[in-house]
Amino acid sequence: MADLFRKKVIAVGAEQPGEHRLARTLSWPHLVALGVGAIVGTGILTLIGVGADRAGPAVIVSFVIAGVICACAALAYAEMSTMLPASGSAYTYSYVVLGEIIAWVIGWSLILEYSLVVSTVAVGWSGYASPLLEGLGFPHALTQGPELGGLINLPAIFIIAVVAGLLSLGTKESATLNAVLVVIKMLALALFVVVALPHFNPDNLHPFMPYGFGKEALPGAGGEVVARGVMAAAAIIFFAFYGFDAISTAAEETKNPGRDLAIGIVGSMIACVAIYILIGVTAVGALHFIEFANSPDPLALILRGIDQPVVATILAVSAVVALPTVLLGFLFGQSRIFFTMARDGLLPAKLATVSKRGAPVKITILTAVLVAVIAGVAPIDAIAALANAGTLAAFTAVSVCMLVMRRRAPDAPRTFRTPMAPVVGTIAILGCIYLFFSLPTRTELFFLGWNAIGLLVYFVYGRPRAGKATEDAVDPEALPEKPVLPAD
Ligand code: ALA
Repeated sequence: MADLFRKKVIAVGAEQPGEHRLARTLSWPHLVALGVGAIVGTGILTLIGVGADRAGPAVIVSFVIAGVICACAALAYAEMSTMLPASGSAYTYSYVVLGEIIAWVIGWSLILEYSLVVSTVAVGWSGYASPLLEGLGFPHALTQGPELGGLINLPAIFIIAVVAGLLSLGTKESATLNAVLVVIKMLALALFVVVALPHFNPDNLHPFMPYGFGKEALPGAGGEVVARGVMAAAAIIFFAFYGFDAISTAAEETKNPGRDLAIGIVGSMIACVAIYILIGVTAVGALHFIEFANSPDPLALILRGIDQPVVATILAVSAVVALPTVLLGFLFGQSRIFFTMARDGLLPAKLATVSKRGAPVKITILTAVLVAVIAGVAPIDAIAALANAGTLAAFTAVSVCMLVMRRRAPDAPRTFRTPMAPVVGTIAILGCIYLFFSLPTRTELFFLGWNAIGLLVYFVYGRPRAGKATEDAVDPEALPEKPVLPAD
């Protein structure tokens, strides 16, 4: 029984053997770009339409709630990722602090999160790309999954293949391209605000909260009964705020992780909260929410609605060019979580090898194939909600780890200390749990089923093989004496 909670020890500063080592090529500007690149994406460009459908103009309140909870979790992440700058993110922190079986559940949840974020963003990309493609004669039936009346979402599959190819070429090249695309994305969003804000009409804000606050199954404007209310929207909109955790998965590839990770995570989070509030206010003020609720390309639709078709096309083209940065961030993170679990023996070790250029090619391609199949057929709100469930589990675990380490190792060196840790940690934990219970009930059940399968895999495959990571485990009480920061 005790080995269910055995802990992993990280030999700080030690390098992995050659074939398992990732090249240290990144510094903080790369990480902020990776963070903003991974955070700003389908959430603000597409799910704002789903959020408006669930909450009405009060989707702005949903943005604030999800942003505050996410910011608290981001602070816990910054502290944990600088204490334990190793690949694997929430999975690794849980393994070191809480024990193997919790780490497994979190790792399994992260696989769900990262995979489904890639699928969701690819479908969001297709929402902006498809009207442009259809203008060139591309058949409509090949731009949407079956639930929306199409056959298959080919553009979504295509973009995943392109990004997986890029990542297989090596980290550095992809991170630099990422930085250029991030600038394009931010300029396009700024253009949206500049053009649409002058059309702000307070009448569009009425009724402000048509579906109330707490989650409730209610019919919307189209008659469809789904979970609605400000919290139900916050549980979906939450998608727009994460991605900074993808930065912490890059720890092993960062030149000076102690400093660079804190700057990367906190900096990109603050920037995104500010940007979203501005875009949310602009969107619901410029056009009545009923008109863009559930649209596949809501920001472009708003611009067309205020008679700005050229700007709408510029925005759509920019989204098409720049959204792949989000895919890049998450496919990057996913391959490395899988990679870390495989290296620990919990998943097949054959997958945990890197190419001569330092890229884990096999896992990247395996992941890409799976997420492309989902993106080809699934509706965006369902996959986004499920991605959020996995993320909420991971954020809760990281916040618990942060609080546990404050008690267990109060004097251990910390490059980044979460301010007011007990308050921030508690808000993060309770907030994530509240958001989880605000998700559609179907999503919650699916998430439980996913983890039931995961535990089966753990007991049949992972547990008997996992000793490698923990064979020299020490009593966690000894952690304070261990240096937890890298030599530099
Ligand atoms: N935050 C990322 C997005 O909105 C996942 O696309």
